[in-house]
Amino acid sequence: MERKHFINQIITIGTLTFFCSLALTPATKATYELPPPQTIDMSLEQTIFRRMSIRKFNNETITDEQLATILWNAAGYRQDGNRTIADINGTYASVIYVLKEDAAYTYNPVNHSLQFYKPGDWRDTVGYQYPGAPLVLGLCYNTTLTNPNNAAAEIGEICQNIAFTVDALNLGTVVIGGFPPAIDKMGIPEDQTGLIIMLLGHLLHPYNFKYRLLWFSLLPKVIETQMNLTTALQQRTQTTNFQGTITRQELSQLIWSSYGFSYYLDKSNQDLNQVKRHRTVPSAQAYYPLEIYAVTASGVYKYQPNLLTMFGNYSADFIGLPVVTYLQKIRNGDNRASLAAASSLPSISSVPLSIITVLNWNKTKNTGEQYLQFWYFEAGAAAQNIMLEAAALGFKSNIVLPTDNTTLSSLLKLTDGYTPLLIVPVGT
Ligand SMILES: Cc1cc2nc3c(=O)[nH]c(=O)nc-3n(C[C@H](O)[C@H](O)[C@H](O)COP(=O)(O)O)c2cc1C
Repeated sequence: MERKHFINQIITIGTLTFFCSLALTPATKATYELPPPQTIDMSLEQTIFRRMSIRKFNNETITDEQLATILWNAAGYRQDGNRTIADINGTYASVIYVLKEDAAYTYNPVNHSLQFYKPGDWRDTVGYQYPGAPLVLGLCYNTTLTNPNNAAAEIGEICQNIAFTVDALNLGTVVIGGFPPAIDKMGIPEDQTGLIIMLLGHLLHPYNFKYRLLWFSLLPKVIETQMNLTTALQQRTQTTNFQGTITRQELSQLIWSSYGFSYYLDKSNQDLNQVKRHRTVPSAQAYYPLEIYAVTASGVYKYQPNLLTMFGNYSADFIGLPVVTYLQKIRNGDNRASLAAASSLPSISSVPLSIITVLNWNKTKNTGEQYLQFWYFEAGAAAQNIMLEAAALGFKSNIVLPTDNTTLSSLLKLTDGYTPLLIVPVGT
């Protein structure tokens, strides 16, 4: 009797141990430590030239080292306590879900780890547009912390960091938006909302870029700084106190980074991507409805990223056209005080350059208010590019909100149908 009881006990303990060990395999434990991020040694401008959407992947997995680098670059904390993205209006509200084969996790930027969220493989459920990606990210935000537009801009910053890191790692990604948010199929807490999904994987059709700089402009060409992506993320500096001057070369480079066209032609023949000369940011439906303005001590300017695409009434280049780009002066003199008075940061009255993203509703092709967050996403993406390029050129920057659109619209000579979204001041 005693002996039978003892054997039963051994069997029970053994069974419990077996199931506990299954539940606590490294992949599904509550906190999943990530290795330190790796340095990305590609120059910032190269990573911008190479940005493009990839929608087809092979079945190779993404390593923990790659994932750790992508997530830290996305929104991690640096050693100086700042993050790789700027806050908007003093707030960070984003939540990044990481959907792996075994379970869904959230990225904890404070200790650079993954927190277990839910068991199961949600990758194809959430990434249903293009199933088969080895890793899926869900970009969401906490609705109690900020408003939908500021959240979208923050997610735009994050997705640029991810896109640059991914192309430098020779991996691919695509930004996906949709209604209702695809992450809803998995379920997230009630105080969060989904906005964007990013698929990550190895390319089925490898990158194949040809340097085809056909650039017709009085604007100086983009130069490749010696700063790599990791250093730019480390050195991006926000300030509220600006001074200094800006050269035409620097102005040209900063404004190009916001919304310009690549020096590369894409020869990779992706069957799910017809764009031939990609732009520095992605755009929902490739509509590119933003107009970029610059305010300096000498005037107010409007940026033309490429006149030739406008002729065909396309905003994306599906042919591989030359780039005919320029700045059009729309107002003379120093108007920085008016800009500052219409913004959330009056001290930008002394900044040498402010770049303003303005939504042209006409270019949104009747997608209406529903798409507004996507355009704020795009403005946030453009802002992140400017802030990284500012770091590479030795400048500080910030993201500032318009507070008086009537004054701002009159300054920029905007008619009805235009809404200023974000202001990015750049100076020393
Ligand atoms: C907010 C947003 C939503 C997007 N949604 C989708 C989508 O649902 N499906 C898709 O295939 N691509 C989507 N894209 C990617 C765009 O189609 C892509 O950026 C555009 O066609 C330009 O191509 P490129 O990124 O390769 O230069 C989205 C991009 C943005 C910025």
